[in-house]
Amino acid sequence: MNDEMDFENRIVSPTEIMGENDSDNPLRPRTLDDYIGQDKAKENLAIFMEAARQRNESLDHVLLYGPPGLGKTTLSGIIANEMRVNLRITSGPAIEKPGDLAAILTNLNEGDVLFIDEIHRISRAVEEILYPAMEDFAIDIVTGKGQMAASYHLPLPHFTLVGATTRAGQLTAPLRDRFGVQLRLELYTPEELARIVTRSASILHIPIEPDGALEIASRSRGTPRIANRMLKRVRDFAQVLSDGVITLRTAQIALERLEIDELGLDANDRRMLTAIVKYYRGGPVGLETLAAAIGEEAITIEDVIEPYLMQIGFLNRTPRGRCITKAACLHMGFDMPDAQDGQIRFDGN
Ligand code: ADE
Repeated sequence: MNDEMDFENRIVSPTEIMGENDSDNPLRPRTLDDYIGQDKAKENLAIFMEAARQRNESLDHVLLYGPPGLGKTTLSGIIANEMRVNLRITSGPAIEKPGDLAAILTNLNEGDVLFIDEIHRISRAVEEILYPAMEDFAIDIVTGKGQMAASYHLPLPHFTLVGATTRAGQLTAPLRDRFGVQLRLELYTPEELARIVTRSASILHIPIEPDGALEIASRSRGTPRIANRMLKRVRDFAQVLSDGVITLRTAQIALERLEIDELGLDANDRRMLTAIVKYYRGGPVGLETLAAAIGEEAITIEDVIEPYLMQIGFLNRTPRGRCITKAACLHMGFDMPDAQDGQIRFDGN
């Protein structure tokens, strides 16, 4: 296993690892009532679904956006379940050609939910097919070339497109505007995550005490996917090293052994923060330079390591590069690095 794969599989990565995204994952809630947190999105969605049901219509197209691991796929499953229709799952990168999308669309049944994950990654050519499909429930297919060319207008069943993206800003305006419902998912609070951990533990028959659940929750970076993954690893420690019950103490010991600190930072986060201070006096340091210094891909730093560090105010992105903050230095026990060319302003960070 190389470093990169190792990294992708780290416990605190918000991206999926194999099996977690299976639609038969027993931890996935199936109804809105079972779905914890995201109250604002949930309340609005409940109204829109009820209204569509009363009118005997399919739900308008839904765009879900926000950081990875917060339950976008889960919500699309809930929408399909509550609207009593089928769910078809695909992703932006999997739809390579317009014909791929046409094949999916023409195979839908009336009312079905089509979930497209990472919808910001579909190509322009595919997007062109999506516009009339979303707006008029029809696609125009051109076959043959030159004099043999023929165009067919193909009606589609009414369907609900649920698009998910971590980068709403990367969607073109025409695509974004075709989603009648746009819901932003937020990071979960530790209390919400503790309820999710407790629910998951009950489904998996893992005995857990409330402060054990809260301890796992507080180290899960606001992300249910991470919390559920951590729960399974902490269970292993509790089972082998003590009586199987996850208590505050067993959670603390397990997470210490997994090198995940009280804020959910792991060895990779600490390695990056240490490099910024040790080699670049706190920054600013360019992304590529930093990537080379710690032997990590720039895109991994950008998509996996940085978002949470910025969220908790440990890292700033400036036009001249990445800068560590005072809060990060305090947490890591670093001496404050000297300000360089007056560029690092620790006050207020
Ligand atoms: N598992 C993952 N996300 C969840 C959520 N929001 N509610 C309940 N269980 C979950």
